[in-house]
Amino acid sequence: MSVIVSPSMLSCDFANVQRDVEMINRSEADWFHIDIMDGVFVPNISFGLPVLKAMKKYATKPMDVHLMIVEPDKYVADFKEAGADLLTVHYEACPHLHRSIQLIKSHDMQAGVALNPHTNPELLRSVIRDLDLVLIMSVNPGFGGQKFIDQAVEKVAELKKMIVETGSSAKIEIDGGVNLETGRRLVDAGADALVAGSFVFKSEDPEKTIAALKQL
Ligand code: DX5
Ligand code: ZN
Repeated sequence: MSVIVSPSMLSCDFANVQRDVEMINRSEADWFHIDIMDGVFVPNISFGLPVLKAMKKYATKPMDVHLMIVEPDKYVADFKEAGADLLTVHYEACPHLHRSIQLIKSHDMQAGVALNPHTNPELLRSVIRDLDLVLIMSVNPGFGGQKFIDQAVEKVAELKKMIVETGSSAKIEIDGGVNLETGRRLVDAGADALVAGSFVFKSEDPEKTIAALKQL
């Protein structure tokens, strides 16, 4: 199966959101990656529910929503309502992670957990079979266009091993600094899905760039 490509709308042109959503619809991309930042969990504010809702109006592919916010449980129902298909919370923001995962599933969404660069994938062993996705951050969350942290490749391999050992069906997604070179190494290590923001939207032909990522 080819790698899932999830372009990050954080790097789209916010003055032309409909145009960029339609470009992703036409492309070979699989999902829309939606980065929600609250200025507390991460040192940046992106956009929130109304913008997700507006994108959903035109999107013909699943919305892969990455919550970089504290107390995400409070907003699970709202994100379902705004159009999320897959909802990912941060391990570091969830003191009762098992409850957060069940809450997402009870709202009929796929459940993901994201790990910051310093967080060991082994910490997910107790919940791994409940998860649809693990998102490994290969930059410190908060901004697009940062440099890829190499240790992410090893983390993918470790996590893949745990997933096989436990019989989990969780997919491994990577977020931050993905391009053709880092993407190749990640796919070789066992990644199922790649998020790419600036590499797609700052390229001359974003549809072609997405097609090239799909070939990895
Ligand atoms: C960073 C976000 C990413 C970001 C990736 O906190 O979670 O999804 O958009 O951007 P690039 O691909 O430019 O590193
Ligand atoms: Zn993200």
